[in-house]
Amino acid sequence: MHLNHAGASLLPQPVLDAVLAHVELEARMGGYEAGEAAAPALARTHEAVATLIGARGDEIALVESATTGWGAALHAFGLTKGDRIVIGRAEYGSNAMTLLQLVHTTGCELVLVDDDEHGQVDLDALERTLADGPVALVSLVHVPTGNALVNPVAEAGRLCRAAGVPLIVDACQSVGQLPVEVDELGCDVLTASGRKFLRGPRGAGFLYVRSDLLPRLEPRTLDLHGASWVAPDRFDMLPNAGRFEQFDASIAGRIGLGVAVDHALGWGLPAIADRIRGLAEGLRARLSDLPGVVVRDAGLRRCAITTFTVEGVPPGEVQARLRAEGVNIGVSRASQAQLDIGHRGLDAVARASVHYVTTDDELDRFVGLVASIAG
Ligand SMILES: Cc1ncc(COP(=O)(O)O)c(C=O)c1O
Repeated sequence: MHLNHAGASLLPQPVLDAVLAHVELEARMGGYEAGEAAAPALARTHEAVATLIGARGDEIALVESATTGWGAALHAFGLTKGDRIVIGRAEYGSNAMTLLQLVHTTGCELVLVDDDEHGQVDLDALERTLADGPVALVSLVHVPTGNALVNPVAEAGRLCRAAGVPLIVDACQSVGQLPVEVDELGCDVLTASGRKFLRGPRGAGFLYVRSDLLPRLEPRTLDLHGASWVAPDRFDMLPNAGRFEQFDASIAGRIGLGVAVDHALGWGLPAIADRIRGLAEGLRARLSDLPGVVVRDAGLRRCAITTFTVEGVPPGEVQARLRAEGVNIGVSRASQAQLDIGHRGLDAVARASVHYVTTDDELDRFVGLVASIAG
């Protein structure tokens, strides 16, 4: 039973077939030659991702991981001493450490916008912060790593647009389980991994950069895919988001990502979100009723993730005992979300994440197993 779709989901058959077929092609005809033959499939991945999030194909860069894309975009803003970067409590550990590096090396400043009484980003506080002196960038996480809440990013995006401040959104945990649309969110940069709710292979994610922002952004790492060395002292970058891509990558992974996105589009994101909502709400309610189990989710709007703790049993042990029964869940730790999980005084929470493939029978069995661990 796989309840770790927020970690890495299960590949649907068409994704597995596409990945294996390309690896076989590489073995038979050579990596570069197979890569050339795969040009249409790679172009389809750009288009599929663009369709998924309401962007243009040339605004999409295929990257190895969400963190790689997020860090590349952040550094490309060329922020300097005194620049203020606004973040929320859901900021993910890898991104937070990249931000701290930037603070240490440039002297730019981090400003934390607190949560509201529902545990989601406080929009009034964000509005006040935007009015309280210049802000270079706002960074928000759509769905945190260890919490069911869906942050009100579209409302935050409207505030950022009104203030003329770029918004970077980490959509790792929302893409594939909810409709995510860049114009609706009002974001300028968005990152996601393919292996989570999109059900793509590991090692393939994407970075969206709004086209009118691109001329301002120069990636720190360039290679001969994203730029050309046109004279001994000069290079030209691609005019599109391709400047953020690297030449070498898992081509099979990128093809698989495109097939996974098409698979999700085939079901339809509103239908996926509906199905997931029912499953997750049911699970949350049943876990809340178990003696010794505390559901730890916040927010007004919730998604596929359910986080919980079991009295007297550390989350890592809950995970291990479930694994021994053939059940996969995740554990989210304070080191992944110091400003959220750490701030709430927790070391970790157990995280069960459903997807549209999850069945009621599985959840019946799951609740029974958690009850026996708690009992
Ligand atoms: C909210 C959030 N952001 C970013 C990441 C990092 O994604 P990746 O491992 O693809 O870099 C994760 C991974 O779990 C996440 O949950």
